[in-house]
Amino acid sequence: MCGISGIVHSENIGRNLFNSIRNLEYRGYDSCGIAMLRQGTIDLRKNIGGIDDVNSKEQLDQMQGRIGIAHTRWATHGGVTQENAHPHLSTNRKFAVVHNGIISNYKELRESLQSKGVIFDSLTDTEVFVNLLEESFADCNDLEQSFLAALQQIEGSFSIVMLSAHDPEHLYCVKQESPLLLGLGEGCNYVGSDLNAFLEYTRQAIVLDDGEYVVLGQDDYQIRQVQTRDTIGKSVLNIDWDVETSKKGGYSHYMLKEIFDEPQTIRQAMKIPAGQISGIAEMFVNAPRSYLIGVGTTYYVASISQYYFSILADCFYPSLSSDEFTVVKIESGDMAFAFSQSGETYDTKTALEYAKDHGAQTAAVVNVMGSAISMMVDQVIMQGSGPEICVVSTKAALAQTFIMIRVALELGLMQTRISRKEYEKHQLDLEEFPEMVKKVLNEQSGFVRNIARATSHVENWLFLGCGVYYPVAMESALKMKEVTYQHAEGMPAGFLKHGTLSMVEPALHSLFFVPPPEEKELHDRTLIAMEQVKTRGGTAIALMFQGDKRAHAVVDQSIELPPVSILLAPLMQMIVAQMFSYYAALELGRNIDKPRNLAKSVTVG
Ligand code: AGP
Repeated sequence: MCGISGIVHSENIGRNLFNSIRNLEYRGYDSCGIAMLRQGTIDLRKNIGGIDDVNSKEQLDQMQGRIGIAHTRWATHGGVTQENAHPHLSTNRKFAVVHNGIISNYKELRESLQSKGVIFDSLTDTEVFVNLLEESFADCNDLEQSFLAALQQIEGSFSIVMLSAHDPEHLYCVKQESPLLLGLGEGCNYVGSDLNAFLEYTRQAIVLDDGEYVVLGQDDYQIRQVQTRDTIGKSVLNIDWDVETSKKGGYSHYMLKEIFDEPQTIRQAMKIPAGQISGIAEMFVNAPRSYLIGVGTTYYVASISQYYFSILADCFYPSLSSDEFTVVKIESGDMAFAFSQSGETYDTKTALEYAKDHGAQTAAVVNVMGSAISMMVDQVIMQGSGPEICVVSTKAALAQTFIMIRVALELGLMQTRISRKEYEKHQLDLEEFPEMVKKVLNEQSGFVRNIARATSHVENWLFLGCGVYYPVAMESALKMKEVTYQHAEGMPAGFLKHGTLSMVEPALHSLFFVPPPEEKELHDRTLIAMEQVKTRGGTAIALMFQGDKRAHAVVDQSIELPPVSILLAPLMQMIVAQMFSYYAALELGRNIDKPRNLAKSVTVG
């Protein structure tokens, strides 16, 4: 949530700073700005709008200097205005800061500063901090000391980078609950709220922990504890993400590109060592109670996984939305398994902290290396899906689901719920899946696009499925809402007759997630709901598999997919539903990669 970047270089960095916030734009995009030090003066340019918009108004990429900070914002405190955009300057213009997170005691601090005559330009919590810096510096005339003195006064979650006219060679950075990383280059160093801030320039990164601050120079850096000022040695990670995977690569949107990345993403998920997968399966075996947690899409990934654990291993682990997890009784020895693409989501982090505080074991599948969740759990699976730039999660969610099928299969084998022969047959299906997905993406996209276009005017959708297709329908409905802004409600197909059926009329469209006919019981149940919609004059569209004559005879329109193993059929439908939402949003002219009001990683509660 919000993107931070800072660079100290031997050469002019205007263009690089601009590029780095452009690469972070998915974290927030209602306003942005850059502050650079030039000949002892801080040059500040900021405005509302997306990065390119602001650049055309402010010429951010033309700014001159060797040291600077930049920010792209997703508003939390204070509306979307030029004044509220970051960076923020102190009254004497000698300090500039960018900030992620929330300074929870900002109101008291603001009042106290106002009583001393400080006049605020913005309504943000951040402007309080920059004025505390000015005040502390006036007292001690020492930059590091004033940085620490200001930090002692604030509470909450924050990552902050400070630029000051009093030190043209260093940036001062701190991390507390919001992510912050360093990037180490040759004759230049970087700081960013995630790797995308500097991945284009260096692969050497250091992940900062809570309570650490950094004095960052062009060729040097010191990392110290805020509380003790002790210097800390930290390991340098070599980031193996391919820069190209974070580019659009000829696709019109990241969302489409990331859907087309899915075959490769699944191959990567297949490469996760078997030992890691069985390590996680053993944690489930050993825990008296286990819970699957995530929020938004990752809650649905948890819910889909819940079904796979049940089908393949006869184990029931409830899925919970992370923000509701603290109502659950959890004890020493229990296990909380979390899903998070970013590894920074506040609700999921808080749920894991709650589990840890009660002595539970924790594990997670995470996409972003060095992220808070990846560091805090007892065991982590790094999914290796590469950067996911579109705010709407597609390939990361798909890969997480695929990985959990691998874990459930391992568990099924350990629990002797499936035979070695069945296990091997399933493994073969998993290996063949990337090619099948590639084929479906290539061959079906035109057809999916036509149906999405023809129905893009539909303002109300029901997405219906039975068994594991139910959470797939829920996730697909979320995708539809996020990217088209149209209403889509996911529910179990059997639930429809218990109330929602009253809404059925021709304008209400129902999208059915129809299992292959071999899944007889689920298939029958889905078709019953389909008949209920049709006999009441509703419009029914089916996402189904080729050769399903029964479903074909009932629905108004269908997207018919080539046969795939029963195990992977739900995932194939999940992918096609992503495409369906994408094309509907395209037809509606939505801001697909950055839907209104959303941000990629939600690091606030
Ligand atoms: C997904 O399309 C959404 N952007 C959102 O629901 C997201 O999945 C959720 O906020 C969790 O994020 P995380 O995976 O980074 O933890």
